[in-house]
Amino acid sequence: MTTACMQAPVEEITRRCDPLVYSRDSINAESLRYLGFHIVPRFIQPEVVNQFLTKFQRGEGVRPLEHHPTRIACDQTWLQLILDTPSYETLFKSGVFFEGNIAVDLPFIFRKDAKCSNRVHLHNDSDYQMGVYDRYSLFLALTAVNVENGGLQLYPATHQFASLGDCGEIDPNILPDNYPIVEPDMAPGDLLVMHSGVWHKSPPPERQELRLYLELHIKPSTCPTAKFPLYNAPVNPFRNLCDGSEIFVSSREQKILRLYEQLAG
Ligand SMILES: [Fe+2]
Repeated sequence: MTTACMQAPVEEITRRCDPLVYSRDSINAESLRYLGFHIVPRFIQPEVVNQFLTKFQRGEGVRPLEHHPTRIACDQTWLQLILDTPSYETLFKSGVFFEGNIAVDLPFIFRKDAKCSNRVHLHNDSDYQMGVYDRYSLFLALTAVNVENGGLQLYPATHQFASLGDCGEIDPNILPDNYPIVEPDMAPGDLLVMHSGVWHKSPPPERQELRLYLELHIKPSTCPTAKFPLYNAPVNPFRNLCDGSEIFVSSREQKILRLYEQLAG
């Protein structure tokens, strides 16, 4: 007995989940809009992947985040290295994203290994972020990434449910029966493009090996939160340079934090 309160054309989604369409060198914009993801095999040459890996292994320009063991912040030198890589420039100038008017954030590395082997619960990213809903994460595999070593599992087309009005762990039982799940099997240098509204999760790894994604988050340059517009793209005169704690006098998150503080005495 299903408790599905989300309705969706499961047969059509399943039919559209064809690797011949979603995993190829050129991005089919219509498929990307519908499914919310695409994989570009061999996006980056092995020599460039090794450049990124060496920089990571030397600890250059990376800062682990205290409360997020799998997420590592990268500085401007990483962003510059990405922007200097021709494959990214070609992709950004192809017009497939926001008609070429793109802004980027500083990149992150997502790591799993013997020390960081947590599962990541089912969620979407857009509901955690300020600004426009339509945006993408570009996940470059720096190692082999697959479901066995804790790689992403995607619920295709779920960005079409739009904002859920809150954020946190999503119950997959609200989806119709037989909803497809895509588990990309990526080699180093492959790129996963994912709409930030797509529901996704990752399991604990079965093999304790290093698994690394380099994530670059892109959004329209006209988003009020855009920080680094590319190639002189137009920006919005309305700008939101706040972090969440500055905006509200009393938000849900602030109330919970205050409650925790009170409980801790
Ligand atoms: Fe996420």
